[in-house]
Amino acid sequence: MLKNLVQFLRGAAGDKEPTLQEQELMKQVDMNKIPVHIAIIMDGNGRWATKRGLPRGVGHRAGVESLREAVNTYSRLGVNYLTVYAFSTENWKRPQEEVNILMDLLVEYLHKEIDELHRKNVFVNALGRLEDLPVKAQEALNMARRITAGNNGLTLNICLNYGGRTEITEAFRAISVKLLEGQIKINDINENLISEHLYTSSIPDPDLLIRPAGELRVSNFLLWQLAYTEFWLTTMMWPDFRRQHLLKAVIDWQRRNRRFGGI
Ligand code: IPE
Ligand code: IPE
Ligand code: MG
Repeated sequence: MLKNLVQFLRGAAGDKEPTLQEQELMKQVDMNKIPVHIAIIMDGNGRWATKRGLPRGVGHRAGVESLREAVNTYSRLGVNYLTVYAFSTENWKRPQEEVNILMDLLVEYLHKEIDELHRKNVFVNALGRLEDLPVKAQEALNMARRITAGNNGLTLNICLNYGGRTEITEAFRAISVKLLEGQIKINDINENLISEHLYTSSIPDPDLLIRPAGELRVSNFLLWQLAYTEFWLTTMMWPDFRRQHLLKAVIDWQRRNRRFGGI
């Protein structure tokens, strides 16, 4: 058992030796009760950098390290879907220079990591109004999707130019077209039909939402899908997230009592 555990942790972070603390945490994880879908609002990169007297872009780069750790850890645990908020429909309000840095980092991440992601059986997917992203970002996403299309391990959903309200609005439009064309009737409109018209159609709702950086809001993320999701909030900044914190969130989630409105 302990040998497997150590192998697990090694595999989850390259060749890094698992610390005693991580081994201790790993023993607390119930491997028979792993969340199917984890969502993360990768927030706090800017403040992480500013606190260190560094440009915000350095914080975004450090945040990519945490993403790498999250993909490794959760794919090892057997999580099926990891949905990360990388760029919101509101993030275009930021200075052009920062937007450029974020888009360049995305392209760099995909090119640098794609072989490793593919080797780990990860399917890389993107959610959002992707047609408004810079062409080079769209091309990198298409490349990643094409290469990993046949993988059946973790699905990594990267939310880009994503907004929950935009997603629901687009679903309204698509459903209205079907209604007007007579493909569906008013009575066909139900919760399932709406879910099927979201970017996340065919993906179960998140079991766990992780939001770092001390913010107590959803910031337009997965508005429909979070109806009964458990929140794990922390004042830690996203670039400080390591394997132990990712495990801790899962352990805490496993101890929650989800009632879904029941008693
Ligand atoms: C999250 O970090 C990354 C994106 C929103 C793209 P922030 O850039 O929002 O970091 P803070 O919140 O300013 O610290
Ligand atoms: C949410 O973070 C979006 C991403 C992490 C991509 P923000 O930093 O944009 O959210 P607010 O502005 O604090 O609500
Ligand atoms: Mg922020």
